[in-house]
Amino acid sequence: MKRIKKIIYISLVSVLICTIGCANMGSVSKNNNSTLSSHFKGLFHLGAAINEETILGKDSKSVSIVKSEFNSITPENSLKWMYIQPKANQFEFKAADRYVQLGLENDMYIVGHALVWHNQLADFMQTINDADEIQGYIANHINTVVSRYKGKIDAWDVVNEAFDEDGSLRKSVFYNNLGEDYIEDVFKLAKKADPQADLIYNDYNFYKPKKRAGILKMVKKFKSKGVKIDGVGVQAHWDLKSPSIDQIEQIILDVHAAGVPVSFTELDISVLPNPWEMVGAEVTQNFSQFEGDPKMSPYPNKLPSKVQKQLAKRYHDIFKLFVKHSDKINRVTFWGVMDKHSWLNDWPINGRTNYPLLFDRNYNPKPAYKSVLEVNTNPKN
Ligand code: G3I
Repeated sequence: MKRIKKIIYISLVSVLICTIGCANMGSVSKNNNSTLSSHFKGLFHLGAAINEETILGKDSKSVSIVKSEFNSITPENSLKWMYIQPKANQFEFKAADRYVQLGLENDMYIVGHALVWHNQLADFMQTINDADEIQGYIANHINTVVSRYKGKIDAWDVVNEAFDEDGSLRKSVFYNNLGEDYIEDVFKLAKKADPQADLIYNDYNFYKPKKRAGILKMVKKFKSKGVKIDGVGVQAHWDLKSPSIDQIEQIILDVHAAGVPVSFTELDISVLPNPWEMVGAEVTQNFSQFEGDPKMSPYPNKLPSKVQKQLAKRYHDIFKLFVKHSDKINRVTFWGVMDKHSWLNDWPINGRTNYPLLFDRNYNPKPAYKSVLEVNTNPKN
């Protein structure tokens, strides 16, 4: 009898130990299973730009990564003018509607990209030479598109890439017809169409002091005049070395000092050589003479582990800085989901093999993914 009691006692103790042990294992494995968005929850939104294949559900693996890893989305192309209003007053909303639906179903912070941009503009807009005519089309475009998604799209890239590298305004079809006040007018139109949406000015090469100063002068002017602007989008098409962490920190501090939060809207890190004097993301630059040159695409089959480690460290350092300044940052969005679909395989030189994102060509997380999840999320550390 005593023996039976002892067996029952040992069994109960074992069950208890196992229960405590299992509970601990559960919490350990839960930590190990944190996702990008859950890891940085409460600090900033974590997003990805998604292409049309993903939006339409044709790339189910990307869809599943987006749903599990991110809490914000940006359409890589589908809301740009040339797709939304390809011909005057003819709107095509199929992909855009599906995009917004995907964001709503998954409770995401949905970004609209981009309302007014000189690139990927419809052909009919490019040749207009009349202020009233172009103003009419801009107003109609913004009213139609922003109103359609009122209360659904959380933030709009209202104007994209309107500044030149020296901080002056780009001589685009908008500027040439309307003069320097067109940006302010566009922001006012967007506010009228959806007063609750976050309105963002988005651009690249913020690390260049003159360009940054030109943009932030405009932001401060808007703030002082009461023109609604809710943030600056820093595209963040960077490489393994440039810009330096100090330069990125200066961007954050300067944008914050101008009175708005910063969003890193198009983050990717190129690991490939830069053609001569090539910087930033000006898509019209052409380096076709380098196409097929193995020196410009040195890793056609696999990223060497040395470079893989450099990429992981670079991402770790960047996210460490983002955490440090998370009180000034609203969102961090990767420009794409996985390496194979990145625009950087075809820009600035066509047909290269680049490795700029956190998921590889087989949709698997890279060491850089792990290094981002290893960033301590306490801003005081
Ligand atoms: O429209 C054609 C389509 O009909 C055809 O089936 C397809 C096949 O290749 O090509 C399509 O056009 C491509 C388009 O993306 C949609 O896939 C263009 O050739 C290609 O040049 C275009 O590139 C986009 C680029 O903007 C254009 O400026 C990239 O995907 C997109 O990632 C990139 O995104 C921009 C941001 O909007 C603003 N900031 C810079 C960033 C990188 O350039």
